[in-house]
Amino acid sequence: MRIAISSDHGGLPLKDAVISAVKKLGHEALDLGTFTDASVDYPDFSEKVGQALLEKRADRGIVICGSGVGACIAANKMKGIYAAICHDTYSARQGVEHDNMNVLCLGGRVIGPELAGELVGAFLSAIFLNKGNYLRRVEKVQKMEDHF
Ligand code: RB5
Repeated sequence: MRIAISSDHGGLPLKDAVISAVKKLGHEALDLGTFTDASVDYPDFSEKVGQALLEKRADRGIVICGSGVGACIAANKMKGIYAAICHDTYSARQGVEHDNMNVLCLGGRVIGPELAGELVGAFLSAIFLNKGNYLRRVEKVQKMEDHF
């Protein structure tokens, strides 16, 4: 898969480790910045990843800010983007399998590179269980996107 990755300045120290983990797992990394430690705004970088997914330039995304919170809130404002902070491997896997999560959000000031690598592995090896209860719930979420 091709994975779009971005961070703000708070997430930048973790971005290289995430890119390395993505490549080590045999995936392609699309690095959408930021590239310096100058202060930037996390919505701009979540938007770059969301746009890459919506334009089918990437299959999944990873956004990183200081806590993971801001980048996650911003990513979820885009229709078709299902983003969540997962700092445990159970959620990183189940978020895809049950909830069709397509963007993993990480806090660069919260977790270190080893855990980030494991989270990336759990996220990228999981596939949405596209049937039954799981599909019905995701379709309800999509209806909410259209309604509100
Ligand atoms: C930047 O200082 C910080 O506010 C941002 O990276 C993020 O943690 C917001 O949720």
